[in-house]
Amino acid sequence: MNGAEVRKRGIGFVGLGGITVTHRKGYRIYGLPFVAGYDPSPRARAAFAAEVPEARVYDTLEGLLNDPDVEVVDLATPHTREARLTPLQAIVKAGKPVYIQKPMAAYYQDALEMVECVEEAGVAAMVNQNMVWSPGAQALARLIVDEQAIGEPLLAQGEVRLRSDYSAERWFGKDERNWTAGNAVHLISVMHMVFGPPESIFAVTGVDSDHPGVTYDAFGTLIWRYRNGFSISLLTNGMYYGINPKPYVSEEIWVQGARGIIDTGPEEFLTVSWREDPTQPGGPILRRTYDIPGAWMPDGMGRGMQHFQQALDANAEPLCSVQDNLYVMAVIEATYKSNERREPVTIAEIMGDRFDPNYGPGWVHRYQHG
Ligand SMILES: NC(=O)c1ccc[n+]([C@@H]2O[C@H](COP(=O)([O-])OP(=O)(O)OC[C@H]3O[C@@H](n4cnc5c(N)ncnc54)[C@H](O)[C@@H]3O)[C@@H](O)[C@H]2O)c1
Repeated sequence: MNGAEVRKRGIGFVGLGGITVTHRKGYRIYGLPFVAGYDPSPRARAAFAAEVPEARVYDTLEGLLNDPDVEVVDLATPHTREARLTPLQAIVKAGKPVYIQKPMAAYYQDALEMVECVEEAGVAAMVNQNMVWSPGAQALARLIVDEQAIGEPLLAQGEVRLRSDYSAERWFGKDERNWTAGNAVHLISVMHMVFGPPESIFAVTGVDSDHPGVTYDAFGTLIWRYRNGFSISLLTNGMYYGINPKPYVSEEIWVQGARGIIDTGPEEFLTVSWREDPTQPGGPILRRTYDIPGAWMPDGMGRGMQHFQQALDANAEPLCSVQDNLYVMAVIEATYKSNERREPVTIAEIMGDRFDPNYGPGWVHRYQHG
C-alpha cells in the first residue's frame, strides 16, 4: 500500500495548534496535500502561514468550509465539548468528511453526541488514534488476531511511566479528566484494536502533590476483565520521576497466550517467545525477534489519514471509525466511574444499546485496502 494508490483529497485544518505540526510531517511522508487552515488565534494562524506559505489561512470556520479545495477536515481543537461539538456540527453540515484528533472527547456522553451528529448528517468520520498505526501495534494485531501466533490470549500488560507536567497557562492538565483520557488513551486504543471491549474495568486514578500544572489526574491503573477470563493490566503513570522511566515510544506491551508470549512497544522490535516443546513445561525457550521499520510519530499521523482517504474512496468504514471509537471512550468513562465508585464498571452500563457483547477486536472491523 503506498500513497500513490489513493485519490488525494485536500486537507483543511480546524485548529492549528502544536500537534498539527506533527500531522503535517506525517502527511508530507505520504504525499497528502493540506490546502488550508482555520484557527481563532492570530498567533496559531501566523505560525501556520509561516510554515505553509502556499496554504490558505482563514479566520472563520465558514471561510474554510466554503473553500472547495478542502475535501477532508482535520479537526484538532482541544477535546472539550465546546471546542469539538460546535465545529463538528458545522463541518458535517457542510458535508465534509472529518478526521478527529484523539481523544474524541473527555466524556462518553460528549463522544456519543458527536457520533449522533455525524450519523444524522451521513458523513464519514474517523478518529486519529495514531498509536494504532505504529509499527509495533500493527504487528501485534497481525500476529495475535490474524495469525493466532500465541494461541488464545491469557494475560496482557501495557505500561508507560514518565513525568508530564504543564505550565500554569496551558489548558492541558487542568481538567478533571487529563491523564487516562488524553494520554493512556493511546494504549487503550491499541488494546481495543487487538482484543476488543472487555466486560468490565476496575481502575484507580489520581495525582500527587508534585504536579503544579496537573490538577486532578496524572495516573491510571486499569484492570480490564473479559468474559472468557482474559485480562489486561494497564499501568500508566504520568507523574513518575524515578530512575526507570518508560516514556513514549519506550512503552511496553506484552501478551501471554496459550502457546507463547509477544513483547513489543510502538517501535523497533517485536519478540515472540515460546516453549520448544509445549508438552514440557519449564523446557527450553525459543525466540524470534522482528525489527520493525517506521515510527509511531510522525508516520502514524500520515498512515491514519491515508487509510481514511482510502476508505472514503471505497465508501467503507475505516479502522477507528467514530462508532468503533465509542468502545475506547467507554473504557475511559468506565475508568473514571470505577475510580469514583471503587468498584468495577461494565462497558454495557456505559454504552447501553450501543454495546455489542460480540463486537470483538477493532482490527476485524477495519477496511482492508486493495
Ligand atoms: N499524540 C497525539 O496524538 C496528540 C499529542 C498532543 C495533542 N493531541 C490532542 O490534539 C488536540 C489539540 O492539542 P494541541 O497540542 O494541538 O493543543 P494546542 O493548545 O497547541 O492547540 C489547540 C488549538 O486549537 C485552537 N482552537 C480552540 N478552539 C477552537 C475552535 N473552536 N475552532 C478552531 N480552533 C480552535 C486554539 O486556538 C489552538 O490554536 C487535543 O485534543 C490533544 O489531546 C494529540
